[in-house]
Amino acid sequence: MIHIHLYEKWWIGLTLLMLVVLSTLIGVSAFASGFQVPQPWARVDPNTLKDAGSFSEANLGVHELAPGKYEAYILAQASPWRFYPSEITVPVGATVTFYVTSADVQHGFRIKDTNINLMLLPGQVSKLTHTFDTAGEFFYVCSEYCGVGHQNMFGKIIVK
Ligand code: CUA
Repeated sequence: MIHIHLYEKWWIGLTLLMLVVLSTLIGVSAFASGFQVPQPWARVDPNTLKDAGSFSEANLGVHELAPGKYEAYILAQASPWRFYPSEITVPVGATVTFYVTSADVQHGFRIKDTNINLMLLPGQVSKLTHTFDTAGEFFYVCSEYCGVGHQNMFGKIIVK
């Protein structure tokens, strides 16, 4: 029989307790709080994405797919530092799937008062869905430092 020191037993117990607590927290955030892990949804060529397709000037912004269901294509760009478009409007109750990418460097896309916070990498499209249940203005900002104009990268979603 191996002798285990009392303190060693405490540490083993504490470690097991931490495993249980942290696993529970992950389960609660995933299933009860609706946390989603953002995934790279598609690949695009950052050099040509503005020429045609989903991130061309003609297609950027919000489109209604079905009653209450929308998709929004948003492009982040440095120099000038901004989002295209910088304002979108949807009705209350709209479920919006955001497709966001970067034209140049690493940016972020965080919508205040929602659980949307995406990393934007050039060449990769990030996707997340959110339902806007209350009217108001939801500001979005670049949440990753991207250069001298980082603080100018913001926009808003008007829900009415
Ligand atoms: Cu874009 Cu910070």
